[in-house]
Amino acid sequence: MAKGNFRRNGLVFATALTCIAALVAGLVLAIVAEREAVTLKKGPKTYKTVTTGQWSDAQYPRIHSSCDSTDVDYITKAFADTHDVTSYAKEQLSHKNSVDSEVYKRWFGDGKLYEVLGVVEGLANISKTNLLLRCDDADGLCAKNPNYYAGYHREADMFETVICDYFYEARVPLTSMCTKGNITQYGPTKYAGIDLLHRYFHISSISQNEFIGEFTDDLDETLDLAEHNSTFAVRNVDNYLYFLADVWGNKVKSGGCFDN
Ligand SMILES: *[C@@H]1O[C@H](CO)[C@@H](O)[C@H](O)[C@H]1NC(C)=O
Ligand SMILES: *[C@@H]1O[C@H](CO)[C@@H](O)[C@H](O)[C@H]1NC(C)=O
Ligand SMILES: *[C@@H]1O[C@H](CO)[C@@H](O)[C@H](O)[C@H]1NC(C)=O
Repeated sequence: MAKGNFRRNGLVFATALTCIAALVAGLVLAIVAEREAVTLKKGPKTYKTVTTGQWSDAQYPRIHSSCDSTDVDYITKAFADTHDVTSYAKEQLSHKNSVDSEVYKRWFGDGKLYEVLGVVEGLANISKTNLLLRCDDADGLCAKNPNYYAGYHREADMFETVICDYFYEARVPLTSMCTKGNITQYGPTKYAGIDLLHRYFHISSISQNEFIGEFTDDLDETLDLAEHNSTFAVRNVDNYLYFLADVWGNKVKSGGCFDN
C-alpha cells in the first residue's frame, strides 16, 4: 500500500510539473507575442507614395519610430523610385521582342522572359509590410563601417533592416541617373530606390526562400552569368539590379550610361 501511495504521489508530482512547465512556456510565448505586437505598432502599417498607375497600392515596409521626419521623407521618396524603376522595366519587358533587346541580353542572356517578368512584378508589388526599416543602428554596424555601410539586414531579426546615416549621403535618386556617376563606375545600388530593392531580396517572402539569391560577387561574374548560365542569371540579385538601372539609364539617355 505504501508503494502504491508513493506511485500515486509520483504521478501527481509529474502532472504538477508538466502543468507548471506548460504555464511557463505559455507565459514565455505570451511575452514574445506581446513584444512582437509592440514592434509592429511602431511606425505606420503602410506608406503611401504619390505613385499612380500600376502597383500604386503597393504595400511598402514599415518605418520605425527611430527614423526622424527627414529620414522618412528620404525613404518615402526612395519607395517611389522603387515603384518607378520596376514599373518602367515591366513596360519595357512587355514590348514585342523585348528579349532581343541589348539590355535584356546583357543581363539575362537567353533567360526566360516569364521568369524575369514574374520577379519584377513580385519585387514591385508583393506586400513588404512585414519588413521594418529602422534608423537607430540597432547592432552598431553603421558605426563600425563608417562611409561604407548604407544599411544592413539584421541577423537578430530577419524582418528588420537598418538604414545607416551614410545611406542619405551616398545614395542618389533616379533623377540623378547618368549625371552623378554612372552604372559601370558605381554599380546599381548607388540609386536609393535600387538599393532598397536589393534589401527587399533579403526577406524570404521576396526571395521566395532563396529562389532569388546572391550567386555572384562582381560585375564580371554577373555579365558572365547572363552569357553562360542564364538559368541562374534570372535568379541572381545583381542581374536584376543592373538590369533595372540599365533600363532606366536608357530612358534617360540614348545608349544608357553603362559601358560594356
Ligand atoms: C498590388 O498588391 C496589392 C496588395 O498589396 C493589391 O491590392 C493590388 O491589387 C496589387 N496590384 C496589382 C497591379 O497587382
Ligand atoms: C550556374 O550558376 C550556378 C550558381 O552559381 C552554379 O551552381 C551552376 O553550377 C552554374 N551552372 C553552370 C552550367 O555553369
Ligand atoms: C562612367 O564613368 C567612367 C569613370 O568616370 C568613365 O570612364 C566612363 O566613360 C563613364 N561611362 C559612361 C557611359 O558615362
